[in-house]
This record gives sequence, structure tokens and C-alpha cells, in this order.
Amino acid sequence: MNRIRRLCALLLAALLLTSLLPAVSADSGTDCGAKLLALTFDDGPSIYTDGLLDELAARGVHATFFVNGVNASLYPDTLRRIVDEGHQLANHTYNHKELTSLSSDSIAREISAVQTLITEAGGDDPAYIRAPYGSINAAVRAAAPAPLINWSVDPVDWKYRNAATVRQNIVAGAHDGAIILCHDIHATSIPGALMAVDDLMAMGYEFVTVQELFYRRGVDPQPGVVYTSAPNNGVNLPAGQGGQGYFDETQLESHWGYAAMDFCMCRGWLEPDAEGRWLPDVWVTRQEFAAAFARFSGIQDLYPADLALQFTDVPADCVNAPYISWACGAGLIIGYPDSTFHPDDTLTREQMATILARYMQMRGVYAEGSVERYTDAARISGWAREGVGMCTELGLLQGAGGGRFNPLGRLTRAEIATILMRMAGE
Ligand code: NI
Repeated sequence: MNRIRRLCALLLAALLLTSLLPAVSADSGTDCGAKLLALTFDDGPSIYTDGLLDELAARGVHATFFVNGVNASLYPDTLRRIVDEGHQLANHTYNHKELTSLSSDSIAREISAVQTLITEAGGDDPAYIRAPYGSINAAVRAAAPAPLINWSVDPVDWKYRNAATVRQNIVAGAHDGAIILCHDIHATSIPGALMAVDDLMAMGYEFVTVQELFYRRGVDPQPGVVYTSAPNNGVNLPAGQGGQGYFDETQLESHWGYAAMDFCMCRGWLEPDAEGRWLPDVWVTRQEFAAAFARFSGIQDLYPADLALQFTDVPADCVNAPYISWACGAGLIIGYPDSTFHPDDTLTREQMATILARYMQMRGVYAEGSVERYTDAARISGWAREGVGMCTELGLLQGAGGGRFNPLGRLTRAEIATILMRMAGE
């Protein structure tokens, strides 16, 4: 009786929430109601950037780094880390000169020299550009192979070397769709920006890269055009439908993970979304992961869902409830002490390695491997080291490039498909 009452209350709450969302007109796409902000850091990397990346990862926040070539050439590992952890790596020119005073050739060289570093780090080609001082004229627009990104919130952090002031200025200026300017070369800017992030997240803002901000607002930014923000124009897509996870589905066969996804979909281990999309670059969620591994193990949707339905955030009609039950029962994915499962959270690479190692042990496979081969071994959490070592030894998980493991990186659907295919011995 109690459970039924609780379910009714949940359903009623869901209905109420739905009715409170802004109306959507037929041609405006989805309005998920999200308030979005893009935090950008200029002029780095610096000695502070790795610490900043740790703090952003702890908050699940993505930012955009407009790097200066002189500094970027000193920190190749940091550039790769920016890319691997899902941030946007972007171009702030090599020498930070006022571009409007340069010839077209010099402007092009200032941009292309940094693009080389960004490409080597695995970043976008062409990467978005921010002209030093935001100075742009016709020659700069003509020479730019990518969108030119200015800002709509400037905390003047280079002048106010005080974290509290930086925090206050960012929070005071923030508005939906804003692009916020900051610099990761000043010790005071980083705690100031992070405190502002905490304040604004508490106010319901979501932090995304500049590119994701545009995609989620249905904007396709053009080379040589200047952008300062992306306010809600009626299109406001939920996470995963644009931006970081966006992939043009008409080009699926050209995706690197196509063969693995096809392999897993044919066997029913992975499924397309309700609209038939494969979403290869979308991060896998805990419930999708449980479903993929359960189906891989031969579990059917008739499997009793009781264990999953004990979680307050797994609704009775959740199609993945049987699989969540199986994964919890097998001790592969564990719920939280407050009786929640967080079905839509994503998994980090080190969490995934730990689950994978448990799964292999369940099937009687064990291998010992060292994590010391990875250049970022020190950043792998203590509880995850055995699992990461084992998965590496078994060849199930590979490094993230540059000899790194990238423990806090996320896994995409295409990556999960690749792992399942390897486990199937293909
Ligand atoms: Ni600058």
C-alpha cells in the first residue's frame, strides 16, 4: 500500500513538472528548460590548470580553454587532458597580439600555429577562436577558419586579483546562454571561478562547453562570425542530444565505432534510442550500462525487477529495471545508501574498469596488472587501481592516448560497444 501511494505521488509530481515546463511550438524543437552557461579560460595553460581540471572534474563541469600558443607549447600533457576530459580546447593565437594591427598572412599564422598544437592534442580541427582582447575587424573575420568567440560576462579577473570579487562579478553577470570570460593564469581567478560555479549550479545553471551551448540551442556557428552568447531562442535541447555527444546520424557508417555498435545492436546488447538513433558519442548512463551487460550475459527482460524498484529513483515503468536488478544482485553496480540508483548518471573510466573487473571475476577470470605503465597513474583512485590494472592486462580497456589512462574521463556508447565486442572475443 505504501509503495503504491509513493508511486502515485511520484507520478503526480512528474505530471506537475511536465505541466510547468515552457510550452513548445511545433517547429521549435525541444525545450528542456535548462539554463546553460559556458565558462571559458583564456591565456593558459599554466601551473594552475591541472588543479583547475581536477576541480572541474569533481563537479562534472565542462569548460572551454582558449589557449595561448607560447604557453600551450609548454604544456602538451595538459592540452591532452583538456580534450580527454571532455572540455573544449580552443585557439587564442600564438603570441597574443592585437590581430587588427597585423597583415592577413600574420593573422593566419598566429591562428594556424596554435591549431597545430590543438590537433596534436586530439582537439577540434578547426578549433573555435578567440581573438586577443576580443579585437576583430574584417581582416580577422576573413582569416578565421572557425567561429570567433567573444563573451557576454567579463569579471575583469586580470585586474581584480581577489577570488571573492571574481566570484561576485561572475555571479552578478551570469544569465542564461552567457559566455563567461576568465583566465587560468592567475591564482585568484581559479578559486573565484569555482566558487561562482558552485553558486550558479545551486541556482540551477548547467555548465557546458561553448560548442555544446550552441548545439543545444540549435545554432550551427559559422567560420568568421562573432558570437558572444547563445540565449534560449526556443530550441533548448537536453544533454546528449546536441553538443559533446552530437554525431550526424546520416554519416553513421563513417564513425570509428560503427562496426562494434552494429555487432552489439544485431545481438540486442545495445539498443537505439526511442527515435532510432545510435548516439555513438553520447556518454553511457548507469542504467544503459547495466542493460548492455545484462543482455550480453543472456538476461531477459522477464528477469524480476524487485531489487531495482526498491530504489526511489527507478520508476515502475523503467524498461531497464530488470537489468538494474540483475546488475545489483550480481554486485556489479551498487546503489547509494539513500536508496537511490542515479540511473542517468554517467560512469567514469575508473568506475567502469572496477565494474568490468568484478564481472570478469564473476566469470572466473582474474589477472593481475600494474597501473604504473600509465603516465597519470597517480591520479587513479586507490579503490580503482586493481580493476584498472586487471582490465589493462586483459586488453579490455585501453589507454586514452599519450600513455595516459584518464581515470575521470567518460565512456561513450561506441566505446562500450567496443568493449563488449572484445569480451565476446571478436
Ligand atoms: Ni587573452
